[in-house]
Amino acid sequence: MNTSSFPCIAVLATGGTIAGQAGDASKTAGYKAGVVGVDKLLDAVPALGAVARIHAEQIASIDSKDMSAELWTTLARRVDALLAQDDIDGVVITHGTDTLEETAYFLHLTVKSAKPVVLIAAMRPSTALSADGPLNLLNAVTVAASEYARGQGVLVAFNNQIHSARDVTKTSTYAVGAFQSPEVGVLGFVQDGRVEFQRSVTRPHTTASKFAVVDAYPVVEVVASHAGVSRIAVDAFVKAGVKGIVVAGTGNGSMHANLTVALSDAVKQGVAVVRASRVGSGHVMRNGAASDDALGTISAGTLNPYKARVLLMLGLTSDATDLQRIFDTY
Ligand code: SIN
Repeated sequence: MNTSSFPCIAVLATGGTIAGQAGDASKTAGYKAGVVGVDKLLDAVPALGAVARIHAEQIASIDSKDMSAELWTTLARRVDALLAQDDIDGVVITHGTDTLEETAYFLHLTVKSAKPVVLIAAMRPSTALSADGPLNLLNAVTVAASEYARGQGVLVAFNNQIHSARDVTKTSTYAVGAFQSPEVGVLGFVQDGRVEFQRSVTRPHTTASKFAVVDAYPVVEVVASHAGVSRIAVDAFVKAGVKGIVVAGTGNGSMHANLTVALSDAVKQGVAVVRASRVGSGHVMRNGAASDDALGTISAGTLNPYKARVLLMLGLTSDATDLQRIFDTY
């Protein structure tokens, strides 16, 4: 435990639009993501000094569309190592918005600490008029320094709202309020130094999660069901030796007849197949729009296809005999 009453927060930078730079301040698209270093991001927010002492590290400088499982592992290990130190009270990770929800959910399931971990991003590059990064960063550090954030799992603080890593998803290509937690809503709010939680997270995470990082993950791919879809992609994935496939199904995880046959064949060849929905909210019921019992498939419940991929990757590293129970639990 940090004996000084003033918190110390580690800020780990990975790139993204929050570290983006455009040649013209009026431009909010067509810029380069992940080029501004963590020191400059912090310098833009002098008010941080009144909230916490900051320990800064540059972990990566990428556009988050290029995020990888290897970088997730590096991040999770670094977060665990920092949070094991008595003098670090919480971690903030600056990230791109595009895969933020996937990284957040991976860390939610693998980090082994009750101390706060908060992901943060921006929709406008650091050079933009009305850049949203600086206030988002200040709010994220405020949440990470708050005793109320302890034990809540990995959080995303964005546009004054606090979301759970499990529920949050990007819902706009341009809006400053780009993140929502469909159906279940925000966990709470952060504004002007005040952190307020309205509800807490019920499913297991962090210290209560059975998952841990490993050196290599089974390959899991996502395929979408849509009008006229063929079995070409599924057959290619199976031939390439993937261990899991998540289908972004229509409606309640329903699948085109061509995909149903191809995925049933994939299951027979030992590939784990999870039915999720491309709709963006709601849940996929086991044996709802397709017979999971007959096909040997697993329903994703309320996880979107990309988070279902994260859980399937981790599930396949553990006891893969009861993947449905894993999806029902996490
Ligand atoms: C990225 O995800 O790295 C680029 C887009 C963004 O951060 O909004």
